[in-house]
Amino acid sequence: MHLTKEEEAVFNGGRGPTLQKMMEILVALGDIYGADKLIPVKSAQIAGVSYKTIGDAGLEWISDLQGKAVIPAILNPMGMDRDAWQGMHIDKQFADKQEQIIKAYERLGIRAECTCTPYYLERPKFGDHLAWSESSAVCYANSVLGARTNREGGPSALAAALVGKTANYGLHIRENRYPTVTIKVKEPLRGAEYGALGYVVGPKVGDGIPIFSLKSTPTEDELKHLGAALASSGAVALFHVLNVTPEQYILPHDRIDVDKKDLEEGWQVPTRYFLPKNRIDVDVSAVKALMAKHEEPDLIALGCPHASVEELQEILKALKGRNVKKEVWVCTGRSLGEKNRALIDGLQRHGIKVLYDTCMVVSPAANHFKKMMVNSGKALKYTPSMCGVDAVIATTAECIEEACR
Ligand code: F3S
Repeated sequence: MHLTKEEEAVFNGGRGPTLQKMMEILVALGDIYGADKLIPVKSAQIAGVSYKTIGDAGLEWISDLQGKAVIPAILNPMGMDRDAWQGMHIDKQFADKQEQIIKAYERLGIRAECTCTPYYLERPKFGDHLAWSESSAVCYANSVLGARTNREGGPSALAAALVGKTANYGLHIRENRYPTVTIKVKEPLRGAEYGALGYVVGPKVGDGIPIFSLKSTPTEDELKHLGAALASSGAVALFHVLNVTPEQYILPHDRIDVDKKDLEEGWQVPTRYFLPKNRIDVDVSAVKALMAKHEEPDLIALGCPHASVEELQEILKALKGRNVKKEVWVCTGRSLGEKNRALIDGLQRHGIKVLYDTCMVVSPAANHFKKMMVNSGKALKYTPSMCGVDAVIATTAECIEEACR
C-alpha cells in the first residue's frame, strides 16, 4: 500500500506510539485486503463500548492510548443509560467500569454520544467515505444513504478517528458495490415484517450484496430494520432495493461517472439496475410465520436500531392514551431524545421507560427477563445468544397492545 511521506512518518513512530499503533492497524488491514492507499473519512462510529462485551481487557487497551480524534467520532451503545442506570438492574461495579470506558474514550476526543443510529445526528451525504462499525449503521449508511463504509471493528474505527483516514478497499470502491444476488419478494410487506424478512433472508445471502425486488415501497425506517436484520442474521453490509435505494447501478460496460459537482447539484443518474442472475425467491409464509408467534413476554423492548422520531411518534400513537401494564423499554439516542423532549415526556407519562445510550442487547439489564417481545429482526436474532432471553417479533402496534393488555 502506498503511504505519503507524512503517513510514513506516523507509521514509523514520528507522532508517538498511539498514532503509530493506529497506523499499523490501518496498514495491516489495507495489506490484507489489497488497498492501494489511505483515504480521508468524514466520521467514525466506534463499537466496543459496553463493559458487558469488552470487559477489563478492552478497558485497559483503550485507557493506555493517547491522542485526539481528528474527525467527528461517536460511540456505539454502552451497557446502561448513563443517567438512569440505577433503575435498570445495573450494579454499581458494572456502572463504575462502564463510566471508566466512556471517560477513556472521551480523553481521546471521542464524543460520548452512544448510538447505533449516528445518521440521526448528522446525515452523511451520498458518496461520503466513513469508518463506522455498528453493523446496522454500516448497512444503513451504505444502502439507504449511498455513503461508503466497510464494516469496521472497534479498533479500526478508533484508528480511523485518530488518523482521520481508512484503507481504500471493500465498499469504498465502486466496483465492489454491485449486487451479487437478486431477491424477489412476491407479496407486499410493512413495518416489522421487513425486519422479519431480513432475518429469514440473511443466512441465505451471507456476506453477499442483495438487490431486492419488492411489491411494496419501504420507508427509511423499514429499510433500517431490513438492513439491521440482514447484517445480523447474515453478514450483509450493503443492499439495494429496486427503484428505492439511491445508488445508481449500471452494467460495468455501461458506466457513467458522476463527479462531485454533479452530486452537489443533486444531479441524478437515471436508474438502471444490474440484476444478478443468481436469484432467491422468498417464501413470504416464512416471514408471516415468524410474526405469528405471540407467547407472553415479560419485557417489551423497542428501538433496535435506536428509534427515530417517527418511530417514537408511532409508539405514542399506538398507546391511544393508555398506560402500559408491563415493562416497556424504548431505546434511542440521547441527542435525539433531548431534541424531542415533549415526545419523550409523553411516552414516559404512559409508563414507558425511554433509555438513552444503551440497548436491550448490549446491556446486562435484559438478562433479568425471561421472554422479550421486539419489533426488530436484529433484536430477535441477538437476544437469545447475547442475553439468554427468548424473543418473539411483532409489529409495533402489537407490542403496544401486549403492553397495555
Ligand atoms: Fe443498536 Fe443494540 Fe440493536 S446496538 S442495532 S439497538 S442490538
